[in-house]
Amino acid sequence: MADETNEIVEAVFEAVAEAAPEIRAGLPSRRLKSGSENPSGETQMAADVFADDLLQTRLGGIDGVGEYASEEREDVDDVGSGLSVTVDPLDGSSNLKPNNTMGTIVGIYDEPLPATGDHLVGASYVLFGPVSTMMCAAEGVVHEYIVDNGVRNLVTEDVRLPDDPSVYGFGGRVPEWFPDFEAFAREVEQDASMKLRYGGAMIGDVNQVLTYGGIFSYPAFTNAPEGKLRLQYEGYPCAYIMETAGGASSDGSQSILDVVKTDDIHARVPVHLGNRELIDRLEAALD
Ligand code: AHG
Ligand code: MN
Ligand code: MN
Repeated sequence: MADETNEIVEAVFEAVAEAAPEIRAGLPSRRLKSGSENPSGETQMAADVFADDLLQTRLGGIDGVGEYASEEREDVDDVGSGLSVTVDPLDGSSNLKPNNTMGTIVGIYDEPLPATGDHLVGASYVLFGPVSTMMCAAEGVVHEYIVDNGVRNLVTEDVRLPDDPSVYGFGGRVPEWFPDFEAFAREVEQDASMKLRYGGAMIGDVNQVLTYGGIFSYPAFTNAPEGKLRLQYEGYPCAYIMETAGGASSDGSQSILDVVKTDDIHARVPVHLGNRELIDRLEAALD
């Protein structure tokens, strides 16, 4: 990657880290519905809107960032010239009310939006758990940081997905799963080395898979064949992080990074992320 691109990617990561404590500090007073809907037809929390506005200002203000798009706004914002940034300002914001884990997901692309997965040049997420951690993937490597006062402190250099999987989490309503996915899920459940971990925030569940090894799926449904999660804001960035850490991603038949949906910035995609061996088995089961 060109030095200049790399510098902008790092500037985006730094700006996200800087915004993280401000987002966190803004949450206690915003655990209520905003009264509006996002482009996916979901009721927005006040915190979703707040985090989106903050990140639009901060990331859109970086020299070398040209476009900003988010799950919480209809259109792509032209903010200058340079790289494109996609954001899920708060992933798992329905966890705000019961006070469970949530996060912020960011993708960075070197082409105008909607971009394709092969144009990702960096991706990152902040996890608002008991501590605020941040995963940053760029240039073929993933690092984990603790965010302290808006600054990243490295805690794990070169994060690699553990070889022996031990956790799984499958989203959605079981009666709406396709029978072939359900058969795969039942097989995973029977494996004595696997334990269920599902928290209702993709980013928390993905972080558990990255930490312990395993699989996270938010699959296709009989009444929603494209699934629930959005390709640009959730699918691509998490697939990039997982694959960079040595894991695999799939929409059921191919790497999520190879999925092309450039007609709709809010397009959805079935998401499966985890150890290669499990993703291979999943793809064989869905074939
Ligand atoms: P968001 O809050 O950004 O809309 O994302 C929520 C997503 C994802 O984080 C999670 O895996 C899934 O929705 C949870 O869905 P369920 O409530 O159906 O479990
Ligand atoms: Mn989300
Ligand atoms: Mn969200």
